[in-house]
Amino acid sequence: MTFSLVNHGAAQAYVVALCQQFGLTLTERASGWHLTFADDALVLRHSDLPKQGDILVDFASGAASYRRLHGGGKNEAIAKACGLNKKRDLSVLDVTAGLGRDAFVLASLGAKVTLVERNPVVAALLHDGLRRALQHKELNWLNERMQLCYASATDALGAQAPVDVVYLDPMFPPRDKTALVKKEMRAFHDVVGSDTDADALLAPALQLAQKRVVVKRPGYADFLAQQAPTLSVTGKNNRFDVYVIAAI
Ligand SMILES: C[S@@+](CC[C@H](N)C(=O)[O-])C[C@H]1O[C@@H](n2cnc3c(N)ncnc32)[C@H](O)[C@@H]1O
Repeated sequence: MTFSLVNHGAAQAYVVALCQQFGLTLTERASGWHLTFADDALVLRHSDLPKQGDILVDFASGAASYRRLHGGGKNEAIAKACGLNKKRDLSVLDVTAGLGRDAFVLASLGAKVTLVERNPVVAALLHDGLRRALQHKELNWLNERMQLCYASATDALGAQAPVDVVYLDPMFPPRDKTALVKKEMRAFHDVVGSDTDADALLAPALQLAQKRVVVKRPGYADFLAQQAPTLSVTGKNNRFDVYVIAAI
């Protein structure tokens, strides 16, 4: 069964093209988690959880802009882990793109990022977020630096030209299962599930990356594939394990 998309907007041709590209099913109405196109944006919505709120990719949102302008720039843990504090225009293959937040931070600092996402719902949200971002003058660099690749990480790692950095942020089960998980995390766990195959990505990532592989993990988590990194950079909420291949 494929995922439902309900069109409440006027752009029928665009919505049909989205369904074709990402294997979605255009329906009149839907229950549970579904995609809706309304007010010129594609959103993920739950029919029975009105308080949950819509989930969408919005690179021009207040939060994204604030982080871009005041988030610490090249001194952010993720930027240091990827080496952007040493060189701005690194090529990065983000093989677990999700909603593109990390990719956006890296691209806003100068990196050229290919965003690989295998889940059709998440990939469609990203595609639509990248389309809307082009309408914002302050994001006129984005088209040059962020490119979506709807594929599995394994396929992308096998097919891409070498890159400076491979970045991985697979889903990790929340430690406190009783805590009310953030709304996006909850949606992701319902719609995407967990990434149980993540360990297998480290070896091909180490083959492709020319400079380093960076793995984002919760502070309490084991190393990916039980393989100790060269170093770790500790962020506010996460740890970035860095596997250094060559100096930047
Ligand atoms: C935790 S989220 C990434 C969040 C992202 N770093 C961000 O800033 O928004 C993990 C994402 O990686 C995707 N993913 C996991 N394993 C993958 C694989 N093998 N190939 C492609 N995408 C994958 C999942 O579908 C999910 O959307």
